[in-house]
Amino acid sequence: MQDRTSIINEINQLKKEKNAVILAHNYQRKEIQDIADFLGDSLGLSQEAVNQDADVIVFCGVDFMAESAAILSPEKTVLLPEKEAECPMAAMVDVDSLRQKKKEHPNAAVVCYVNTSAAVKAECDICCTSSNAVNIINSLKENDIIFVPDKNLAKYVSLNSTKNIIPWEGYCPTHHQILVGDILLMKEEHPNAEIIAHPECKEDVLDISDKVLSTTGMTNYAKSTNSKEMIIATETGILYRLKKENPDKIFYSGSEYAVCPNMKMTTLEGVLDSLKNMKHVISVPEEIRIKAMKSLERMLEVGRT
Ligand code: 13P
Ligand code: SF4
Repeated sequence: MQDRTSIINEINQLKKEKNAVILAHNYQRKEIQDIADFLGDSLGLSQEAVNQDADVIVFCGVDFMAESAAILSPEKTVLLPEKEAECPMAAMVDVDSLRQKKKEHPNAAVVCYVNTSAAVKAECDICCTSSNAVNIINSLKENDIIFVPDKNLAKYVSLNSTKNIIPWEGYCPTHHQILVGDILLMKEEHPNAEIIAHPECKEDVLDISDKVLSTTGMTNYAKSTNSKEMIIATETGILYRLKKENPDKIFYSGSEYAVCPNMKMTTLEGVLDSLKNMKHVISVPEEIRIKAMKSLERMLEVGRT
């Protein structure tokens, strides 16, 4: 078996030869976070891919993220090291059922969370992320909004908007492992800790949280807050980054069970294999790509106004 240092050396060598960059989501294994050129959230990484003067993007994350990068950077080769790294929440909505829902609500706008396939994005009016969902909804002229696929994010948005949100029944199985009872017990043990939750958490967890933030929102907030202790209600992988960037602060995981198996599929060996053998190339059929890009661009436009 090849040792870790020689794997990393080989990865770095191949990166130079192929003019590649490695992007990693905040939930990735720590050894993947350590070799990444950029760490970030679902959409931020795809935007980073656009800015890079690279021929190859190795996307250490899950399927829909690599697809977003391929939608926004069609001239680059986007690789997903693990073919099976799929987001179960994104798989909870498909084109046919969404078309049916649109027929039932012909006057509604359709908003999709970035955690959706390119084909579903192509069926929507506009995308959103966990950090801009409320702004996106409020920017729309329609009052009725079909929101896919996360029912928890939909609920959070509906509480922060006057719009009529028609939720989809999707959810993130990992964030559903985070239980309000466990967080309350932790708060009893650490009364000075702030509770920071991702909006994919269940409503009762969000209700008792001090802040509801995307993963990038969490990394920014952790640096700026005066709090010295935080209970982090999201996938546990982010704790590594939070601790590394804030050695003077203490972070508690909201649940040791909040581990996304799909995010953890990517290994150093997998990244090496991906670069060596140029796999797995993620591409989106042009007709779908153009439509999906409109949904993403409309979102980015709202962000600029
Ligand atoms: P963000 O990193 O965009 O907050 O999303 C979290 C997530 O669940 C990605 O799968
Ligand atoms: Fe999908 Fe949840 Fe895993 Fe993110 S943490 S990839 S939303 S299953």
